[in-house]
Amino acid sequence: MTQGVIFDLDGVIVDTAKYHFLAWKRLASELGFEFSEAHNERLKGVSRMASLEILLSVGGIQHLSEEEKQRLATKKNQWYVEYIEKITPAEILPGFLPLLDFLKHNKVKVAVGSASKNAGTILSRLGLIEQFDALVDGNRITEAKPNPQVFTLAADDMGLPYSACVVIEDAEAGIEAAQRAGMKCVGVGSPAILGNADIVVQSLDKLNFNELLHLAG
Ligand code: BG6
Ligand code: MG
Repeated sequence: MTQGVIFDLDGVIVDTAKYHFLAWKRLASELGFEFSEAHNERLKGVSRMASLEILLSVGGIQHLSEEEKQRLATKKNQWYVEYIEKITPAEILPGFLPLLDFLKHNKVKVAVGSASKNAGTILSRLGLIEQFDALVDGNRITEAKPNPQVFTLAADDMGLPYSACVVIEDAEAGIEAAQRAGMKCVGVGSPAILGNADIVVQSLDKLNFNELLHLAG
């Protein structure tokens, strides 16, 4: 029986993945190259600085100083923060709120495990910050997905064994992190990208909640 569910944030609870993409695309455009949605797939779940490295490699840009990289990452984040300032609860993805109700009703603990340093701000804007038993975000972790740290810390905070937890993710790196943590996982998105997950659904409103309840343990 599943005792805890750990939600990724960006692309699972709310569609901020599109704002990350817009901000990275804008940075690429300033640097003089195109950045496509296919390129962006490689950035999902990946930390801000690691994302910048991938973006620079797509643009063939090498040998930037650490200072310059920090400047570019800060610029991207400022644009991203401008986008998310306008986020409202209407942008919570379909199926998330009914699933949250179902889990609470069944006494399953819930956590957020996100690489984002903006997770707290986003959850506050969505009116969800009080809803979770644990919150692990990019300010707390030292190792980025696919390292399992973000999920093992969330399970530790909930006081649950890893094998009793299920991760819900939209990123390949997140699925790998869940598996390395010894947790079952649900992929939200394309089966072509998330095929390694135990269950893949196009969106959370397509998930069989009872199947989730029996996935772990
Ligand atoms: C992840 C996103 O949740 O957070 C990535 O999938 C993003 O695209 C990462 O780069 C870090 O986010 P932030 O808000 O700290 O720049
Ligand atoms: Mg995500």
